[in-house]
Amino acid sequence: MKGRPLRRTADIQMPAIILNGKETAAAIKAEVAAKTAQNTRTDRAPCLAVILVGEDPASQVYVRNKKNACAACGFRSAEYLLSADTSEADLLALIADLNADDTVDGILCQLPLPGQIREQAVIDAISPEKDVDGFHPVNAGRLLTGQDCFMPCTPAGVVELLRRAGVPMAGKHCVIVGRSNIVGKPAALLMLRENATVTVCHSRTENLKETVRTGDIVIAAVGRANFITADMIKPGAAVVDVGINRLPEGGLCGDVDFAAASEVAGWISPVPGGVGPMTIAMLMKNTLLAYENRRLLK
Ligand code: GUN
Repeated sequence: MKGRPLRRTADIQMPAIILNGKETAAAIKAEVAAKTAQNTRTDRAPCLAVILVGEDPASQVYVRNKKNACAACGFRSAEYLLSADTSEADLLALIADLNADDTVDGILCQLPLPGQIREQAVIDAISPEKDVDGFHPVNAGRLLTGQDCFMPCTPAGVVELLRRAGVPMAGKHCVIVGRSNIVGKPAALLMLRENATVTVCHSRTENLKETVRTGDIVIAAVGRANFITADMIKPGAAVVDVGINRLPEGGLCGDVDFAAASEVAGWISPVPGGVGPMTIAMLMKNTLLAYENRRLLK
């Protein structure tokens, strides 16, 4: 056996390789910053407009992280902090202004929104060319039909994390738990693009445990702490945890029982430090893409 490289198989068990989103995101942001430094020798910096309605503490943290990432990439960020009682009409008017503003490349309105504002109306109002979240129906349709588009940042971050870790995807069975428009459904399309065989499970799935256990890759996007237990993981599988659940005693945890699952999985992403930073890194990539597309049109 001497000199032979170690292979990870279902038969050789060792603790899982950590899918380190923090490090991978830092590498992606450094790539974006290098391209931006080159572009800004002759042109203005990319600009992301971030809108936050209300004072939800979690959303405030996400918006702050996005702003810091913009600074790290050499982007300008424009923050619009609106009161919780903002009307839908006022928000749509702001978005119309930002759509028309030639110095703004990307527009992001942090979700969730207060009850008086229809989220879909807001998503539909953002120009598809500035939709760096990839939520607009034009971008969703382009993703579905395999055309160039802005990819939703969280599932794009999941796939990039797997790709950069060298996890095989082509021909593998990917089980996604969750069917949201933001994560589950686009993750299925992105994994199909990687030539994976895809199953999407949800709250009404029968035999959930058995189905998840057939996954070579499991993407957990349920929004329930420790929902995915070690007995649901196929030995050697890659497990990507999209969940960000706040514990009553403080702190964060994912949808996967990390301690137990990491004894079974081949690869696993932690929370925090897994998918969260990757989402922001992909937002930076999308903003750079929006900027480059707009420069080409000039
Ligand atoms: N809320 C939670 N995740 C996201 C995201 O990726 N984009 C926006 N705009 N809001 C969110």
